[in-house]
Amino acid sequence: MIQKEQLNSNIPRHIAIIMDGNGRWAKKQGLFRAIGHENGAKGVQEAVEACTELGVKYLTLYAFSTENWNRPKREVDALMKLLVKSLKKEISSLQKNNIRLNAVGNLDALPEKVKKELLYVIEETKSNNEITVTLALSYGSREELIKTIQDISIKVKNNLISPHLINETVINEHLYTKNLPDVDLLIRTSGEQRISNFLLWQIAYAELYFTKVLWPDFKKTDLFEAILNYQQRERRFGKTSEQLS
Ligand code: IPE
Ligand code: IPE
Ligand code: MG
Repeated sequence: MIQKEQLNSNIPRHIAIIMDGNGRWAKKQGLFRAIGHENGAKGVQEAVEACTELGVKYLTLYAFSTENWNRPKREVDALMKLLVKSLKKEISSLQKNNIRLNAVGNLDALPEKVKKELLYVIEETKSNNEITVTLALSYGSREELIKTIQDISIKVKNNLISPHLINETVINEHLYTKNLPDVDLLIRTSGEQRISNFLLWQIAYAELYFTKVLWPDFKKTDLFEAILNYQQRERRFGKTSEQLS
């Protein structure tokens, strides 16, 4: 088991996690999928605690995708209910640990109750600065890019931006993630090796890490292991190894 003392000072600034495998975790033990999601909420606690201990400044969690709306209504309802419950339960520990909550995605698509609770917790924690935990909810990267292109196009049409001045910075400023730095490390649990429409633009130079651990089983030590693996890589950003040393 990896201990945090084995890590060096090169801690990723922004970690993003595709929290996958709740359903399989439940199925394996003959339980309803919703129970898997409830146990997945515990994985969130583990990840947040581990990141706070290490000094990770941004943690972004894929909690519900635009495609997840196509799941059976019963499951979607259970997930939305769980969200409200978790937000109500966690607000005091977010305050106590100086954690700022943030959200990305098409929040208007969420049920009113979820949106209200979410915006309340975001507002209440906005001055916290130990770590920013961003929930990706009703989030899809393609939807985000379409919205970004529409917003920029409107500004071009109104002569607020000139087309040849559109650059990476302008695009970043129009994404849901406008206040977040690029992702350094992207983790996906459950053994699937795909991105599933998550942060396509933002992971352009992220290090990718896939683990077979199912999300409800994900513990602090699993996060330490991912970071240790990250620390053994050389991020060259197109340069040669010699240029870096
Ligand atoms: C991830 O677990 C949680 C959400 C997508 C909401 P899944 O529900 O996708 O679990 P599996 O992939 O079916 O095991
Ligand atoms: C991705 O997981 C979305 C979240 C973890 C919230 P899915 O389980 O929905 O993705 P696919 O269907 O395996 O691509
Ligand atoms: Mg899944």
